[in-house]
Amino acid sequence: MPVHYHHKNQNEISFTPIYALDSEVRTLPRDKMPDRILDPKQASQFITDQLLLDGQAKLNLATFVTTWMEPEAAQLIADCANKNIIDKDEYPQTTEIEKRCINIIANLWHAPQSLSALGCSTVGSSEAAMLAGLALLFNWRKKRLSKNLDISHPNLVMGINVQVCWEKFCRYFDVEPKFVPMEGDRRMLTPDQIPSYVDENTIGVIAVMGSTQDGAYEPVEAISKSLDEMYQNTGLDIKIHVDAASGGFFAPFVQPDIKWDFRVDRVVSINASGHKYGLVYPGIGWVLWRHSDNLPEELVFKVNYLGGEMPTFSLNFSRSGAQVVGQYYQFIRLGYEGYSAVHKGCAEIATYLSSEIENLGVFDLLTYGNDLPVFVFKLKEEIDNYSVFDISTQLRKYGWQLPAYSFPKNLEDVSVLRIVVRNGFDRDLAAMLIDHLKDEVANLSGRSKSVTDISATMGQSFHH
Ligand SMILES: Cc1ncc(COP(=O)(O)O)c(C=O)c1O
Repeated sequence: MPVHYHHKNQNEISFTPIYALDSEVRTLPRDKMPDRILDPKQASQFITDQLLLDGQAKLNLATFVTTWMEPEAAQLIADCANKNIIDKDEYPQTTEIEKRCINIIANLWHAPQSLSALGCSTVGSSEAAMLAGLALLFNWRKKRLSKNLDISHPNLVMGINVQVCWEKFCRYFDVEPKFVPMEGDRRMLTPDQIPSYVDENTIGVIAVMGSTQDGAYEPVEAISKSLDEMYQNTGLDIKIHVDAASGGFFAPFVQPDIKWDFRVDRVVSINASGHKYGLVYPGIGWVLWRHSDNLPEELVFKVNYLGGEMPTFSLNFSRSGAQVVGQYYQFIRLGYEGYSAVHKGCAEIATYLSSEIENLGVFDLLTYGNDLPVFVFKLKEEIDNYSVFDISTQLRKYGWQLPAYSFPKNLEDVSVLRIVVRNGFDRDLAAMLIDHLKDEVANLSGRSKSVTDISATMGQSFHH
């Protein structure tokens, strides 16, 4: 969400009489509330027209977020838009549906039956990350205080490839981020890095399923084994939180044998975005803890002024219940069979696209879409008369949105294009994309030098 600044110069937007409802040509102040009431049809048409210049959601290969749901789901979501999810007593069935979703997800992530996993819905993975990070921080503090140890320097260990939400968590809650930089072919946190970064002030390790930077899964089980060895050698018992923003609703269906969830003992909490491969419109996220011990009770507030006593753990209070209902719709409508079909379809398109792109002969593929259906590719070293930024700019003229970005520390000089395949991106669209990419590569190869100003993008990592 960009931070919008208030502009003092209030200019006006002309507003033509549409559909002969009004013969008067009017203007609307751009940044000030209009003085007069507007007809609802005109207001809605005016906004619809203004939005026409937004990108086409289906051609947005930058986003992980769901851009299509069935009309039945969209209707349910619209029907529930006016239900505030925090009013648990007033909307007991929405609450019941949220509870069922938590149980479904706990099963999907192999929460041990012997323990009672607990969790909540959130606006997205970012809020979920704040809540999970706070739980790690409070537990670490509690443990240290019980031994009279210093609590002034908490740190969190993670690969530099983590999404910006973890940087935010550290900044907002005064925790030192210990980022493991990228190096050579390593673009993620690997078990061998653990001993040099983890210490007694480490509140936890973040493992990502999969990386926003290149779609690859981090080796959660191997990271856990490295922490086991550390425990045996030093007595430091460091837990893992898995940021499964995208993989949480993908891996269980496409790579069910990869152990990354509560099957790994050191994993105490997991977050995922329902609005990514959970297949729901934004914003919905989920965070689950293995056991109530992993969620310090000081973080849970009980309010009784809505009727009944309701425990809550969230950063905000009011939010629509619509997305939770949308999530439940997808769970029961698609089931295991449906989610597997949708996601396996995406995996197939991603590997088809990556191999076609490799065949063009000008790109090196860094990932192929074998983990998440997401892959990144860079131009071959010898190509210096155009850049991935030029390609991204050229593809925009067809409507394609393919982000080009450079990796974070220490691979700032590597710039890539990324493709995220989502539900609804079919083979026809994929073939069209390949044709357009082929044409643009041919056009650009005739250029003498790159034309896109990349100074604004170089050196900055991409967090989308
Ligand atoms: C790995 C990872 N974590 C967290 C987030 C933030 O998710 P949300 O947009 O649901 O807040 C993202 C978003 O792309 C992500 O890829």
